[in-house]
Amino acid sequence: MNVLITGSSGLIGSEAVEHFDRQGHDVYGLDNNMRSEFFGVSGDTTWNLHRLRTVTRSFRHLDIDIRDRERVIDVFKTHRFDLIIHCAAQPSHDRAAMIPMVDFDVNAAGTMNLLEATRLHCPEAVFIHMSTNKVYGDAPNELPLVELEHRYEYARPVDYHGISEECRLDRSLHSLFGASKAAADLLAQEYGRYYGLRVGIFRAGCVTGPSHSGVELHGFLSYLVKIGVRGEPYTIYGYKGKQVRDQIHSADVVSAFEAFARNPRPGEPYNLGGGRQNSASVLESIAAIEAVSGKKIRWTYTDQNRRGDHICYISDLRKLAEHYPQWKITRGLDDIIVEMVQAERERM
Ligand SMILES: NC(=O)c1ccc[n+]([C@@H]2O[C@H](COP(=O)([O-])OP(=O)(O)OC[C@H]3O[C@@H](n4cnc5c(N)ncnc54)[C@H](O)[C@@H]3O)[C@@H](O)[C@H]2O)c1
Repeated sequence: MNVLITGSSGLIGSEAVEHFDRQGHDVYGLDNNMRSEFFGVSGDTTWNLHRLRTVTRSFRHLDIDIRDRERVIDVFKTHRFDLIIHCAAQPSHDRAAMIPMVDFDVNAAGTMNLLEATRLHCPEAVFIHMSTNKVYGDAPNELPLVELEHRYEYARPVDYHGISEECRLDRSLHSLFGASKAAADLLAQEYGRYYGLRVGIFRAGCVTGPSHSGVELHGFLSYLVKIGVRGEPYTIYGYKGKQVRDQIHSADVVSAFEAFARNPRPGEPYNLGGGRQNSASVLESIAAIEAVSGKKIRWTYTDQNRRGDHICYISDLRKLAEHYPQWKITRGLDDIIVEMVQAERERM
């Protein structure tokens, strides 16, 4: 197959590059290192591009901005892609508030450019769109919760499996990032439903893994591991540090893409996270990292939570598991943390 991966120097994109290259496909990675523009030097992904060049067989890098409609269309004219995995994005909701126009142009218009290029030049291709659970805005916070010693938890047994795709998308506070991603999510669904393109939409929560260029504004676990290993200070924002996230390793994200690509269901959205088994609060994550690194994390607490931040978010994985029974989570939270601590030590 000819595979195009956008955001190929980022966390999920680079995992996908390695995966499909290993299988012998011709992999094109499109990335303009805009993460360094969003987050400064610590968000620079050049190290990951160099790494990909050394570990892959036939990976080709395209330094193209997804906002550049003409160049995007040109790439699609030149290469006939069989699979497109779209991971390029402005990924932070805090950052989006500072650069709302750029955020919209990258997340919404950039996605539109890729969908339309696919429709015009390779309508038979499978198109994977990486969306986010922020498309639900803060609606997940409406579920009744109980406060436990180290975490919040859903109060009703019916919510045990977490947030499903039935959660509403509108009438909630999204952040500008959530809104631009919701626009892209709906466009991707429409290209599946209206035009019949083989588009799959994956709404992830916290994706993580050693290839993340974690920064304070994006990549919570990666950033926390970095801080923990390097002995730097960390700030917890609100909810007493009891806010819960379900962590998924980027390899398990890519295997979900692969399952969809084998048997695509046009326009279908899926929630994708670590699920209940990989859920932990910030306080619990700190304790888990300390146990592996053997170092105390120096954290301080500020009462002000991030605007629109989820209090307890666990992805309900039942729809994905029902449609793709061969897919499952293969990396537990403890394994993920061990791998990330090791990778961070090697990077130091
Ligand atoms: N990591 C997570 O926890 C998470 C959670 C939910 C959703 N997602 C979504 O998954 C996707 C990938 O996330 P990630 O964590 O790998 O992000 P990342 O920031 O690590 O990677 C994104 C890549 O896209 C590139 N990029 C940004 N703007 C570009 C542009 N205009 N043209 C070309 N390349 C550009 C960046 O340089 C970066 O390498 C995003 O859509 C993100 O919203 C990620």
